[in-house]
Amino acid sequence: MIDNLPKAELHVHLEGTLEPEMMLKLARRNKVSLPYETVEDVRRAYEFDCLQDFLDLYYLGMSVLVTEQDFFDLTWAYLTRVHSDRLTHVELFFDPQPHMDRNVAFETVVEGITRALEAGAKEFGISSKLIMCIVRHLPEEHAFTALECAKKHKEHIYGIGLDSTERGIPPATFARVFKAAREEGFVPVAHVGEEGTSENVKEALDLLKIERVDHGNHALDDPSLVSRLAHQKTPLTMCPLSNWRLKVIPDLTQSPVKKALDEGLLVTINSDDPSYFGGYINDNYRAVQKNLNLSEKDVIQLAKNSFAGSFLSDPEKQAQLDKIDRQVGTLQKTMG
Ligand code: HPA
Ligand code: ZN
Repeated sequence: MIDNLPKAELHVHLEGTLEPEMMLKLARRNKVSLPYETVEDVRRAYEFDCLQDFLDLYYLGMSVLVTEQDFFDLTWAYLTRVHSDRLTHVELFFDPQPHMDRNVAFETVVEGITRALEAGAKEFGISSKLIMCIVRHLPEEHAFTALECAKKHKEHIYGIGLDSTERGIPPATFARVFKAAREEGFVPVAHVGEEGTSENVKEALDLLKIERVDHGNHALDDPSLVSRLAHQKTPLTMCPLSNWRLKVIPDLTQSPVKKALDEGLLVTINSDDPSYFGGYINDNYRAVQKNLNLSEKDVIQLAKNSFAGSFLSDPEKQAQLDKIDRQVGTLQKTMG
């Protein structure tokens, strides 16, 4: 069922799809030095105690990305991989600021990604939207520089997001950047309530005016916030394997996905940084299905939520939901 359902992914960082094999290959190609010799060295390093532990290696890993072709190759490898998971739509995050700090031009990044997304639409029929994330650990003026660049690429960048370190950096820090971005037509989303509290989720809704909550685990700590999110149908993009590997939850049976479904929230399943957390989109569906004992009905609901929570137009959403219904009909017939 999971393998065959059409689905969308709404929370995946392009730089988090960098597999160790490609990391080492690009390091050689671009003469970037890394503290790893072999694929096993890289994988051994992926033991994280918290978000910051992961982020340190994530920024190190992405330092091998230099040319337009590198960004094309990375995006193309992701699309090829998730095509076999029956992914039909992706809303992809990228982090331009760390690349710009290494003197990689914004254009190089966006052009490589966009060329691959266009090829993915042609070759695999995967539709996409690109979301530029502001990294919280860099100052406001750095974020404004990235926004200035994004304004020149509006035809390719749909939204603005907020990621990186959450502890100690409240959403309000970027209220002015988000206001300017909204005025330019970028749709706002933010990573909140991953390690931070429900207050961060509320602040991002109120001050950044986000239209979707990335992670949002701790939103569930506040019943009035849960009612608000359910009432407004605000989507939450949850990432089960990421939560487990970053110790946001002690084990997968503690994933808040089932509780969120039961509360009537528009919750979706996503991979976040699949290379670092050991699983792509279907691995995440399988992990929650097994550990939370999800029914077939729950799994179908999650696949439907992935489109309902997307930024596709209403007719595009309906076409994808119809595809799910047809697929479910076929599966039920073949299983008698
Ligand atoms: N949280 C915050 N920042 C990130 C993440 C995440 O899960 N992945 C990549 N950047
Ligand atoms: Zn994320």
